[in-house]
Amino acid sequence: MYAERVLSGMRPTGSLHLGHYHGVLKNWVKLQHEYPCLFFVADWHALTTQYDDPRGIERAAREMVIDWLAAGVDPAQATLFIQSQVPEHAELHLLMSMMTPLGWLERVPTYKDQIEKLSTKDLMTYGFLGYPLLMSADILIYRADKVPVGEDQIPHVEFTRELARRFNHMYGREPGFEEKAREAVKKLGSKKARLYDELRTRFQERGDSEAVERAHALLEEVQNLSHADRERLFGYLEGGGKMILVEPEALLTKASRMPGLDGQKMSKSYGNTITLREDEASLTQKVRRMPTDPARVRRTDVGEPARCPVWQLHQVYSDDTCRAWVEQGCRSAGIGCLECKQPVIEGILKEQAPMRERAQLYLDDPTLVRNIIADGNERARKLAQETMRDVREAMGLDYS
Ligand code: TRP
Ligand code: SF4
Repeated sequence: MYAERVLSGMRPTGSLHLGHYHGVLKNWVKLQHEYPCLFFVADWHALTTQYDDPRGIERAAREMVIDWLAAGVDPAQATLFIQSQVPEHAELHLLMSMMTPLGWLERVPTYKDQIEKLSTKDLMTYGFLGYPLLMSADILIYRADKVPVGEDQIPHVEFTRELARRFNHMYGREPGFEEKAREAVKKLGSKKARLYDELRTRFQERGDSEAVERAHALLEEVQNLSHADRERLFGYLEGGGKMILVEPEALLTKASRMPGLDGQKMSKSYGNTITLREDEASLTQKVRRMPTDPARVRRTDVGEPARCPVWQLHQVYSDDTCRAWVEQGCRSAGIGCLECKQPVIEGILKEQAPMRERAQLYLDDPTLVRNIIADGNERARKLAQETMRDVREAMGLDYS
């Protein structure tokens, strides 16, 4: 009933680094060609931990959008927007908060973890506990069925699925639901109605998931069906109420293998990053200062790539020939470390060249970015408003 749709969000953390590029953005760039995509700046999410110092958020959000654009996220393909500019997220969050069991929130694995990890902050707040619920609202309000996230966010998507089910069950059972659903089946025409009933029975009696998929495909094909009837038939199929909110699926983004300057995972908190648009001089200096195999004190000492963080960057940026040159040269002291680092520097520069070029366009003309965001906000708002209309109606709050 609802089109395929991808949604993902990112907290505005300031300038992004190559870890974000290899871990997340490259995937977004790929997805934007495969599905309609919505990507947003989760600025309210930043507030859940940064409520004491919100001043920098807006600037970080703009910078981050420039990084997305630089990485190749294309506003002609994907919708880019800012969470707080679509206040419907807050309305859905509020309505769902009424029916969200406290225990579900307390059991989300990141909750206790984060409180312990960020022990210098007081996170015993209402907003911080409700953070997964806000994320659920972000997803459900667009009826997004695919949510690309890293492993740490999977429990949040699972939580979202449970909430959608609870919501549909609670508010999708309008008076006379069964009768209305039977009426809607008839409207499919006798042939399709028979097939629908058959698939429904197969699912309900035998849990046949292929039958559900086929029934979904069938309903998607049917043209002359009202929105409400469609929702009913989707819900009736699986035995719940109307399907008002769509259960999303996580698209697991494989953990990025992007090593930082010290060989640990690249992360701002380790201070080992190269930013997406790092200028050439600073990039060169950072790589030149990278630690190498500690056994190579003098140029004539032999080394072992496996003990060297530079070698890990060669895995990302060099081809087989170059890597063979490194292994041979390092183990025989045939090359020096600065020499060895040069191809890495060049590889990163080459990767960044198109990013720098695209970013320059937006830096030269900030109204471009403003317009892209304004445009995205508006498109997102339209979709969010549609869902909210159905949600209010289902809850009997539409005052029409
Ligand atoms: N919670 C995510 C993070 O911290 C960001 C986020 C907020 C998000 N809302 C979302 C991601 C909705 C995917 C979908 O990384
Ligand atoms: Fe590392 Fe290259 Fe030096 Fe070997 S030659 S220690 S791989 S930087």
